[in-house]
Amino acid sequence: MPAKKTYYITTPIYYPSNKLHIGNSYTTVAADAMARFKRLTGYDVWFLTGTDEHGQKIQRSAEAAGKSPQVFVDEIVAWIKDLWSALDISYDDFIRTTEKRHRETVQKIFVKLYEQGDIYEGRYEGWYCTPCEAFWTARQAEGGNCPDCGRPVELVAEEGYFFRMSKYADRLLQHLENHPEFIQPPSRKNEMINNFLRPGLEDLCVSRTTFNWGIPVPFARGHVIYVWLDALSNYITALGYQRDETLFKKFWPADVHLMGKDIVRFHAIYWPIFLMALGLPLPRQIFGHGWLTLKEGKMSKSRGNVVDPMVLVERYGSDSVRYFLLREIPFGADGVFSNEAMLQRFNTDLANDLGNLLSRTLTMLERYYGGVIPSPAAETEASDRELMELALETPGRMEALMDKLQFSGALEALWTLVKRSNKYIDENTPWALAREEGQRQRLGTVLYNLCESLRFISVLVSPYMPRTPRRIWSQLGIVDLPELQTWESLSRFGLFRPGLKASRTEDLFPRLNIEEELNSLMGEEEYLRKQEEVPVAVAPRRQPDGAAPEAAGGPERARAPQEGRETRETKEQISLDDFARLDIRVGEIMSVEPVPGADKLLKMMVNLGTEERQIIAGLAKHYTPAELTGKKALFLANLKPAKLRGLLSEGMILAATDVSGKVVITTVDDDAAPGSRIS
Ligand code: MSP
Repeated sequence: MPAKKTYYITTPIYYPSNKLHIGNSYTTVAADAMARFKRLTGYDVWFLTGTDEHGQKIQRSAEAAGKSPQVFVDEIVAWIKDLWSALDISYDDFIRTTEKRHRETVQKIFVKLYEQGDIYEGRYEGWYCTPCEAFWTARQAEGGNCPDCGRPVELVAEEGYFFRMSKYADRLLQHLENHPEFIQPPSRKNEMINNFLRPGLEDLCVSRTTFNWGIPVPFARGHVIYVWLDALSNYITALGYQRDETLFKKFWPADVHLMGKDIVRFHAIYWPIFLMALGLPLPRQIFGHGWLTLKEGKMSKSRGNVVDPMVLVERYGSDSVRYFLLREIPFGADGVFSNEAMLQRFNTDLANDLGNLLSRTLTMLERYYGGVIPSPAAETEASDRELMELALETPGRMEALMDKLQFSGALEALWTLVKRSNKYIDENTPWALAREEGQRQRLGTVLYNLCESLRFISVLVSPYMPRTPRRIWSQLGIVDLPELQTWESLSRFGLFRPGLKASRTEDLFPRLNIEEELNSLMGEEEYLRKQEEVPVAVAPRRQPDGAAPEAAGGPERARAPQEGRETRETKEQISLDDFARLDIRVGEIMSVEPVPGADKLLKMMVNLGTEERQIIAGLAKHYTPAELTGKKALFLANLKPAKLRGLLSEGMILAATDVSGKVVITTVDDDAAPGSRIS
C-alpha cells in the first residue's frame, strides 16, 4: 500500500497569561476542523498546539498574581487543556515552551546561529511592547504606542544579541514573489512586502537581559532568548528537530501555520528567515485569519468584555459553538461575535434545517415502516436524481473549499444538501403518498433516499461537529457500521442497507427561546463583569463624547488603579426616587460553597428575612467559605436573577473595592435582623 499523504497543521502557541476567550478558541477550532477533515479524507495528519510560556509579559502577570511564573502558567495551562477537551480539539501534540525538549533544542538553535555568524553581540536601544513582545523603532512607535495593539511602548536600552535579518531579506522577498500562496489571504502578503520588507529589514534583537523568565543563552550569563525566537521554534522542536527526527522528517515542512492576522508578521518574516538560516525548508502556507470582535469593539480581558467559550459550551454543547464559529464568518475576514447571531444560527441552521430533517425522516420511518429502512425502487424520478447528484457532488465541493481554508463556504455547501433534502420531503409529500393506493414503493424510495442523504450529511459534518454524527448514526441504526461512515463510502449513493432498524430517541438541536437565552447570557456577562472585574465594571462603556474607551487611552488604562477613581467621580447624580428603586436588605449568610470549575465564584444561601435565596458571588479570590458563613451583610435583593455556570443567582452581595482591587463585604452589626431594609 502506498504511504498516506501527510498533513501538518499548527495553531499559534497561546500565552498563558490569562484564560483564553472565544477569539483564541476560534483559531484552534478552525485548525481542528481542518485536521479532522484531512484525516477523514485519508491524510496522515499531525496537529500541533501548545503554550508560549516565557517572556516579560508572563513574568509580569505572574508577579501581579503573586505567584512564581511556573506555578502561574501551570494553572492556566491546565485550564487551557480543559477548554480544548471541552471543545473536542483533537491535537496530536501539545507543546509547552517550558518543557525540556523545547528548551534544549532552542538553545542548540541559538548556538548554531551564533556559530555560523548570523547572531552577533550588540546593544539594543529602542521601543518595546510587552503585551505583543515586539520591538519597534521610534518611527514605527510614533506617539509612544504600539502600532499593532495601540498600547504604550516602553523605552529599552540593554545589551543584546542581534540576528542578521537584513542578510536574508532579498531571499525572502523572492520567495514571497515566487510563491503567491505562501501568505494567505493575499492582502496580508502585500502588507508584509510594502510595510516591512520594502522599507528594509533591521537586524532583530534576539536576547533580553532585564528579566530572567526565558530560555538562557547558553554562553552568555544573564541573557535570555527573545520570546519570539523561542516561540516560533516550537513548530520544529515539537517534531523532534535535532533530537529524534522521525516525526520531523515525516511532517516538516508544515502544510499550514494558522494564526490571527496580528501575528502574521512574526510568521511571515522572522520565521522564514530563521528557517533559511537553519537551512530548512519553509512552511507551505501561513494563513492569517480575521479578528473576532464584539459590537462594542475589540475583545480584551482588561476591558472585561470577553466571551467565555466554556460558558457557551456548557450551555449549548461544543458542536453548536464550533458550528457557529466556523459558519458565521468567512475565514480571513474580521467578524462580529454576538449572542444574538449565534442563537439565530442555532435555531435556523441546526434546529430547523438539520435537526428537523432528521426528526421528520425518523418520524415518517416509524409511522409508515415501523422504523425499518425500506428498499428503494430501481426507477428514479427527477427529484431523486437531483438529490443524488447533489449528494455526490458535495464532498468534492467541500474539499476544494477546505483546501482554501474556506470553512464557512464548505459548511454552506453542506447546508445546500441539508436544505435540498428538506425540500425533497416537501416536493414528494410522503404523508400524501402514504394515503394513496399503489404508492407504497414510491414512499419507500423517498424515505430510503432521505436516510442515504442523511448518511452523507452526517459523515461530511464530522470535521466541524464531531459529536453530531454518532447521534445521527445511532438513530438511523448505522452506528456499528463503520463502512458507511467513511469518506470513500460517499462515492456511491445507495449504500444504506434496507432492513436496518432506525429509532427516534432524541432531538438533535431543540429550538431555543432566543429572548430567554439572551437574557440569561446577558445577565451572566454583566454579572460576571460586575463581580469579577469591579474596577473595569464601573468604567463607562462610552466616553462622554461618544468615543470608545480605547480611543481615550487604550485598554491598558482601564486597568490602571487611578482609572477606578476617575470613573467613580464621573457617575451621574441620582434622585431619592432612583435610590428607592433599590431593595437593599440585611441578609444572613447561612452556608457557602465553591462553584465547581469557576475559580472566582462562591455559591451562598442567604436568609433575606422573608425567604432564603441562592446568590452567586465573585468572592472566591477574597474569602474562604468559612470566613463568610454566619456573617450578616448588605444585599441587593431586587437585582434581576441571572444564571452563572448554570446556577441561578437571585441577588447580589454589596462589597467595597479599593483601588488595588481588594474586596471587602459590607458587613452589618449582629443586631440587625435579616430582612431589615436600608433606606
Ligand atoms: N504567543 C503568541 C503566538 C506565538 S506563535 C509562535 C500569541 N499568543 S496569543 O495568546 O496572544 O494569541 C494567540 C492567537 O489568538 C493569535 O493568533 C491571535 O491572533 C488570536 N486571537 C486573539 N484574540 C483574537 C480575537 N479576538 N479574534 C481572533 N483571534 C484572536 O500571540
